Amino acid sequence: MDKAKRTAIIAGNWKMNKTPKEATALLKEIAPLVADADCEVIACVPYVDLAAAIEATAGTNVKIGAENCHWAESGAFTGEISTGMLKEVGVEYVVLGHSERRQYFGETDETVNKRTKAALAAGLKPIVCVGELLWERECNITEEVIARQIKLDLWDVTAEELKNVVIAYEPVWAIGTGKTATADQAEEVCAFIRAQLAKLYDQDAADAVTIQYGGSMNDKNADELLSKVNVDGGLIGGASLVAEKFAAIVKAASK
Ligand code: PGA
Repeated sequence: MDKAKRTAIIAGNWKMNKTPKEATALLKEIAPLVADADCEVIACVPYVDLAAAIEATAGTNVKIGAENCHWAESGAFTGEISTGMLKEVGVEYVVLGHSERRQYFGETDETVNKRTKAALAAGLKPIVCVGELLWERECNITEEVIARQIKLDLWDVTAEELKNVVIAYEPVWAIGTGKTATADQAEEVCAFIRAQLAKLYDQDAADAVTIQYGGSMNDKNADELLSKVNVDGGLIGGASLVAEKFAAIVKAASK
C-alpha cells in the first residue's frame, strides 16, 4: 500500500493556549481556509474549549480532539476527564502520551497504554505520541527507544483497533524549539515505526496506519517533510495557533 492510500492527517495541538472565546475566534478563522482540504483536519484543544470548538466547527470539515483522557470510566480521580465525557461533547480524537505529559506529568508507557485502550474502547481515535530525547539520539538509541514505546503503548491493542490509531513521531528535541528534524530524519524514524508495526501486526495493517511527524513543523518546512513516503501528516504545536500557517500546512498535506 502506498502513501496515497493512507489518510493524511494534519492535527493542531493547541496545548495550554486559548480560552473558549479565543478558540471560537481562531476556529472561525481556520475553517474557511481549510474548507477544500484533501486531508483530515483536526484541532486538539484544552478541555474547557471543547464545547465551544465543536460548536464553532459544526458543519465544517474541521474535527475536534482533546489533549488527554483518563482510562477509568468514572470515579475518584480529581481533575481527570473520562472518555465518556469527551464522547458526549462530540470529541473524535485524543492526543495521548505527548512528551510534555511524559516530561512534566509523570506519564509512562504503561499509562499511555491504559489511556489508549480506554480511548479505543470508547470509540475515540488516539493520536499516540512517541519520540526520543536529544541525548537518546546522541547515544544512538533512537530506534530502541521508539521500538519500546510502540510495543508498550500499543500492548494489547488489536489489529482491528489499530485501524483507529494514529501515531505521531515527535522527537522531543524538535518540539517547540524551532529545531525541526530533517525530512530524511523524520522519514527514517517514521519508516522504522511502520516496520515495528509490521512486526507486531502485519504489513497490511502497518501500511494502513497514519504516521505523523511533529516538532516545529511549519508553513515553510511542511512541504518537504510531507513529501516523504512514510510521513502521512503532522502534529502541529506553535504553527497551529496561527490560522494562515496552519492552513498552509493543511494545503501542503492536500497535494
Ligand atoms: P511544535 O509542537 O510544533 O510547537 O514544535 C509540536 C507538538 O508538541 O505536538
